[in-house]
Amino acid sequence: MRCPHRREDRCTIKEGSQAKKHIFSEGRMKSEASHKMTVLHAPVGVRSIVTSLVAFFILASSIVFLLEEQVQMAVRGTTEEGDASNEECNWSRGRWVYDNVSRPLYNGLKCAFIFPEVACDKYGRKDVMYQHWRWQPHGCDLPRFDAIKLLEKLRNKRLVFVGDSVNRNQWVSLVCMVEASIPDDRLKIRIFNGSLISFKALEYNATIDFYWSPLLVESNSDNPIIHRVEYRIIRADRIEKHASVWRDADIIVFNSYLWWRKQKDDMRMKVMYGSFEDGDAKLDEMEMVDGFEIALKKLTEWLGENIDKNKTKIFFAGSSPTHSWASNWGGDDKNKCLNETEPIYKTGYKAATTDYSLMATAKSYFRTLEPKGIHVQILNITELSDYRKDGHPTVFRKQFVPLTKEQIADPASYADCTHWCLPGVPDVWNEFLYGYLVHK
Ligand SMILES: *[C@@H]1O[C@H](CO)[C@@H](O)[C@H](O)[C@H]1NC(C)=O
Ligand SMILES: *[C@@H]1O[C@H](CO)[C@@H](O)[C@H](O)[C@H]1NC(C)=O
Ligand SMILES: *[C@@H]1O[C@H](CO)[C@@H](O)[C@H](O)[C@H]1NC(C)=O
Ligand SMILES: *[C@@H]1O[C@H](CO)[C@@H](O)[C@H](O)[C@H]1NC(C)=O
Ligand SMILES: *[C@@H]1O[C@H](CO)[C@@H](O)[C@H](O)[C@H]1NC(C)=O
Ligand SMILES: *[C@@H]1O[C@H](CO)[C@@H](O)[C@H](O)[C@H]1NC(C)=O
Ligand SMILES: *[C@@H]1O[C@H](CO)[C@@H](O)[C@H](O)[C@H]1NC(C)=O
Repeated sequence: MRCPHRREDRCTIKEGSQAKKHIFSEGRMKSEASHKMTVLHAPVGVRSIVTSLVAFFILASSIVFLLEEQVQMAVRGTTEEGDASNEECNWSRGRWVYDNVSRPLYNGLKCAFIFPEVACDKYGRKDVMYQHWRWQPHGCDLPRFDAIKLLEKLRNKRLVFVGDSVNRNQWVSLVCMVEASIPDDRLKIRIFNGSLISFKALEYNATIDFYWSPLLVESNSDNPIIHRVEYRIIRADRIEKHASVWRDADIIVFNSYLWWRKQKDDMRMKVMYGSFEDGDAKLDEMEMVDGFEIALKKLTEWLGENIDKNKTKIFFAGSSPTHSWASNWGGDDKNKCLNETEPIYKTGYKAATTDYSLMATAKSYFRTLEPKGIHVQILNITELSDYRKDGHPTVFRKQFVPLTKEQIADPASYADCTHWCLPGVPDVWNEFLYGYLVHK
């Protein structure tokens, strides 16, 4: 069962009558197209509505199981308060320091709530150096993570991560970072409810949730397990279904990046306006990145109209790079990131396949909320993660269907270089979050 689509990084494994898709990358194709919106105006009227209807139902009814890109450093010499208040300091600029004394922050094998997609040591990864790096910003230290302090901060509060499987990766990381400090199993629970996964530290009445919403607005990818990958439709003016889940949160961490990347050169985003109920449904098609702007616009409008700035803190997690193209760091593309055991040490390294511009776009939309007193803090974790070619599960993770020997020997098709092993890189993203919540 070789994957025939290496270039798109896609594999279809036929099992019985169901096609199960594993899609790992997203790495390669930078959008060549301009940001200019190319809109195919669907003819207005009955015909277009019927066409849209048909398209939508084809989508809704085609069940494609997809292991969605899913599938899935105490600081030496740091004072308790860190140096976070130092305005000169920029957490995004720094280097990785090997520190097997203070890292990892928790034991992944002991974390009761880890997800098998990112539990690399449990699934056979033998090298452990990837767990021992701490991020050292230039000129200052990150505040030292203190789980109890965070839980106190979250007492009687609700923190929600909203986004895709990479955001879920960060949520799992934070849950593992705090749950080790709650030894009594009766005082912590995790509840699955459709798109919502909820972790509660009962003694603190603190909630840390993850909500699946990979394209931010409503879309045909809203089912966390069953969704199309290639044919994506977003609803330009619909976000309420999602927003109703996180509107009362005290802290929200959004992300959205990989799902706007092209998996094929000619991949485009379908955008639906209006609704079938109102009889004004209209379907357009545009470049993926233009779809991202439509989603950002809707999200920003919603936040501007609904967020209580005195209550809710909002974050947006920066793009998480993939390491699916080893030629970026001088390796062989056919190995992807398999067997990488150390970070890239070249200062200022930025992979050609990592699109930094999407975050800049997001930042410019969120800036329009500033006059209303709403500040969206970007967690700029892209460059520090770009260095970590060694941080991914590759073949050491739970698979939808366990890999065969032949598949394991074919990393180009089967290595996950998108998600991150835990303990690992997302722990640092959460140290940023912690720093902003507790110290800034
Ligand atoms: C931090 O550094 C990055 C990269 O040089 C820059 O883009 C960003 O604006 C800086 N942030 C602050 C708050 O100075
Ligand atoms: C930590 O790393 C140092 C230097 O690489 C090594 O000498 C030492 O044995 C390591 N300690 C542990 C506990 O692994
Ligand atoms: C528990 O936390 C929730 C937020 O998740 C809050 O609405 C509720 O008021 C808290 N309960 C108490 C007793 O404070
Ligand atoms: C699951 O979520 C739905 C809303 O989406 C809610 O009505 C229901 O009470 C939740 N179930 C549990 C067990 O929390
Ligand atoms: C937010 O806080 C400010 C200053 O404390 C207060 O004047 C304002 O009324 C508050 N707004 C809301 C919506 O509670
Ligand atoms: C990765 O490492 C394993 C074990 O050392 C080795 O058998 C395998 O050939 C390596 N694969 C690649 C692509 O280098
Ligand atoms: C994030 O940091 C990188 C450098 O690490 C910088 O190039 C980029 O402009 C920053 N992005 C945002 C949105 O601040």
